[in-house]
Order: sequence, then C-alpha cells, then structure tokens
Amino acid sequence: MTPDVTNRLVYLSTAVGVLRADELDRIWLRARAANAAAGLTGLMLFHQGVFLQVIEGPAAGVASLYERIRRDRRHANLTVLESGPVEERAFPDSPMNYVSARNLSPGEKQAFTDLRAAVMSRPALADLGLSDFLAAFSLRTA
Ligand SMILES: Cc1cc2nc3c(=O)[nH]c(=O)nc-3n(C[C@H](O)[C@H](O)[C@H](O)COP(=O)(O)O)c2cc1C
Repeated sequence: MTPDVTNRLVYLSTAVGVLRADELDRIWLRARAANAAAGLTGLMLFHQGVFLQVIEGPAAGVASLYERIRRDRRHANLTVLESGPVEERAFPDSPMNYVSARNLSPGEKQAFTDLRAAVMSRPALADLGLSDFLAAFSLRTA
C-alpha cells in the first residue's frame, strides 16, 4: 500500500434514537477538528434519521477513522457504498462539510431519498448514480 494514495469511503447509516441538533453539531465540531489534524476531508448529510458520510484522505487515515465511526453507538446499520482509491478528492476544501436536514433544499432531500431507495432495491451498488450525487454536493457549501 502506497502511503499517499487518496482513498474515499462513503457510507449510509441510521441514527440510534433521536439525535438533537446540538448533539449533531457536537459530533460535527469534534469531527472537523480531528479530521483537519489528520488531513481528512468530506461531507456529512443528515436527513430523516439517516447519515450519509464521505471521508477522503490518506488510505490509512480513512481506514482508521471508519473503524472508530463503525463502533460509534449513536448510529447503526452502516452500509458502505464506495471504498477505494480515487484520483482526486470531491471535497478537498472542508475537513467535514456538514449539511443538516434544515439546510438541505427540497431537491437535495429528494436526491438523498432516491439514493437511499436505490441502495435498498439494487442488488449491486454499481449503478446508484453516486458520483453524480456527490458531484452536486461538491459544488455547494453548508
Ligand atoms: C455519523 C457520525 C459521523 C462521525 N464522523 C466523524 C468524523 O468525520 N471524524 C471524527 O473524528 N469523528 C467522527 N465521528 C465520531 C467518532 O465516531 C468518534 O466518536 C470520535 O472519533 C472519537 O473517537 P474516540 O472516542 O475513539 O477517540 C462521527 C460519529 C458519527 C455518529
């Protein structure tokens, strides 16, 4: 494994119980600081109790962060949609761009709902339209 290969990992998960806005903000603020220190960037969306998170950066950093996140009891049912090397980051400028439900446009909410439906119904993850979905979010700020 080459140490400077950039990896991307994208997963969906469901929140355990009701997470209040201030709890989500706390997760995000800590995440942002830790990710900045580790050279990681990405995106976190939350809508209707479901997280979508994109983590990008050095392969080892992405893997060790995902190990920690996977064990976090504030969410469950983690489903990895993408994991592996990428040419370049989709979210190079933010240690974790968090777009809360409040800040999602109706079109973005629909795109998120459609993606979740596609994940539930497709036997293969290849044709989810994930890269288009991420490209749309890479152009926006919270
Ligand atoms: C949906 C979700 C996303 C998270 N994203 C990150 C993240 O990007 N970076 C991070 O350091 N922690 C993130 N966390 C928090 C980690 O799961 C963990 O609590 C934190 O890294 C501290 O881990 P430690 O107590 O083992 O040091 C996230 C937690 C949740 C529930």
